[in-house]
Amino acid sequence: MGRRETWPRPPWGPPRTQSAVSRRVTDGGLRAYPPPMPSDPIEPIATVLPLEDDDPFIPEVGTRLSGLALGIDVGGTGVKAALVDLATAQLVSPRVRERTPQPSTPEAVAQTIASVVAKVLDGIDVPADLPVGCGLPGVVKAGRLTTAANIDAGWVDWPAEERIGEAIGHRTWIINDADAAGLAEVAYGAGQGKPGTVILLTIGTGIGSAVFLDGNLVPNTEFGHLEMHGRGAETLVSGAARERRKLGWKRWAREFNAYIARVELYVCPDLLIYGGGVSKEWSKWGKWSETKAPVVMARFLNTSGIMGAAYAAAAAQRADRAHHAISQAQADALTA
Ligand code: BGC
Repeated sequence: MGRRETWPRPPWGPPRTQSAVSRRVTDGGLRAYPPPMPSDPIEPIATVLPLEDDDPFIPEVGTRLSGLALGIDVGGTGVKAALVDLATAQLVSPRVRERTPQPSTPEAVAQTIASVVAKVLDGIDVPADLPVGCGLPGVVKAGRLTTAANIDAGWVDWPAEERIGEAIGHRTWIINDADAAGLAEVAYGAGQGKPGTVILLTIGTGIGSAVFLDGNLVPNTEFGHLEMHGRGAETLVSGAARERRKLGWKRWAREFNAYIARVELYVCPDLLIYGGGVSKEWSKWGKWSETKAPVVMARFLNTSGIMGAAYAAAAAQRADRAHHAISQAQADALTA
């Protein structure tokens, strides 16, 4: 270290000693500090209300499950379902698909779900308490959708969880379709054991997103609706938008890059997982893809929505049972 420098102290610099602080306070140098207290009590400008537990159930990181569960994936174009072995992440029934009815009113889609499920379970003996999960393309709160972009507006606030359960005769849990796909990838696939911020995007009829922080899902993120050129991004760069706008892969990839740049600006992911129809065509556009984070394709290209819905339902059922057992034990202890 060289000679100690001495710098002229600016007049607004911090006082050197405690006595200097007191002097400044008393001699008027900082008379405005601390600020005078108002004589009237301050009205709070916001009130924190207790949150209702209305988010879809989120499995804890690393939850390992076994047994069978039924997964249903309702998309803008197709309704798909299959029976899943949760220990091995294998489908143990045919994957049945029917077209999403148009208009995709909740009643019509519920009928299609019932028909698809009947085909999946045809000839298979399943327990009455088989967990059933259903992925839907919208924000899920308290067993209902609160948004509906790629599905009939009648879904908003329709009691989906209850009515779908009635239509198929099994208690059903609903979840956002992209969140379901993300859960499958994080539990069994391309996102397994990945730390940091991981984003799965499903690029198909719309663009769905699932965001994970150290494996924990942040539900209902809806990055497909980020603004681009004054519009929701998915109306410009989803798979369906590419076809509607008759864009070649190179042109589309350039626009998609601009979209991803925005996602990365806001959330700075450590890993991007692409799923949905467009991800299957990676060989046609991957060479033009530009991202800061590494990109991997979803492991379960056609089935992650089914798999994740089944996984989420089984985890929710297990949590319900544990919760019930604890309440029961508490009640027993009180009456003993
Ligand atoms: C919906 C999302 C959904 C995505 C993919 C979007 O239009 O708002 O909830 O995940 O489509 O289906």
